[in-house]
Amino acid sequence: MTPAAHAVEIRNLHKHFGKLEVLKGIDFAVDPGQVVCVIGPSGSGKSTLLRCVNLLEQPTSGRVVLEGVELTDPDVDIDAARRRVGMVFQQFNLFPHMTVLQNVVIAQRRVLGRSAAEARRIARENLEKVGVAAKADAYPAQLSGGQQQRVAIARALAMNPALMLFDEPTSALDPELVGDVLTVMRKLAEEGMTMLVVTHEMAFARDVADRVVFMDGGVIVEDGPAAQVIGAPRHERTKSFLRRVLDPTHTDV
Ligand SMILES: Nc1ncnc2c1ncn2[C@@H]1O[C@H](COP(=O)(O)OP(=O)(O)OP(=O)(O)O)[C@@H](O)[C@H]1O
Ligand SMILES: [Mg+2]
Repeated sequence: MTPAAHAVEIRNLHKHFGKLEVLKGIDFAVDPGQVVCVIGPSGSGKSTLLRCVNLLEQPTSGRVVLEGVELTDPDVDIDAARRRVGMVFQQFNLFPHMTVLQNVVIAQRRVLGRSAAEARRIARENLEKVGVAAKADAYPAQLSGGQQQRVAIARALAMNPALMLFDEPTSALDPELVGDVLTVMRKLAEEGMTMLVVTHEMAFARDVADRVVFMDGGVIVEDGPAAQVIGAPRHERTKSFLRRVLDPTHTDV
């Protein structure tokens, strides 16, 4: 394994579902400590791209290289590679029958083999970091959506990932709860976490992302500094998408 310049590198990635080609040759990389936001219309392939990065979906062709390890190599230790990637979904996917603390402990015990005491210590540290330490002994149903999502973030962080993937982490939340989750994500970014974030939160993307990638129809239309892609997009498709998301009353397509 050679030292990796990129945290993750995606080369000529294609994904078909039967005859439907959802990713049509995606190329980009995220460097260590970078935050890259992916924006684009519904159905453009954003979730599929994220799912190919942690091999929840098997790419049809192309390469995904995580810290210098090619995940798309048939001989790779997939489980070891997956452990390096944390994923936070729109739906928080917490175990309802376990307390918050148990939710953050379980994968550390089963996947990393940490002792119960160590896993609990690390769980508490991460619950503290996301501001829900007081809820350690509560069950997910007793938490707000924003608190549940922060627990899901703590659960991912407890695994010491090299890369965090977020797929619309605030889309299922009531508007007044979105800010708390974005604040936690902003803090992670400031601490140097490498993050690939699918989001419709343009203010977050503009303020926090190093780069913004605009996808449409399974291709990357535009990839550049956040201020440029959001503030001064070059492509007509990016412009019309941004008009729609920044002003939902706009009806042109
Ligand atoms: N498992 C699957 N089987 C068949 N088609 C799929 C599957 N997963 C996704 N697709 C299709 O792939 C395309 C891209 O889906 P994807 O979920 O990646 O889009 P997206 O950009 O994340 O959209 P959204 O913003 O609505 O979440 C869609 O046409 C979708 O129907
Ligand atoms: Mg999606």
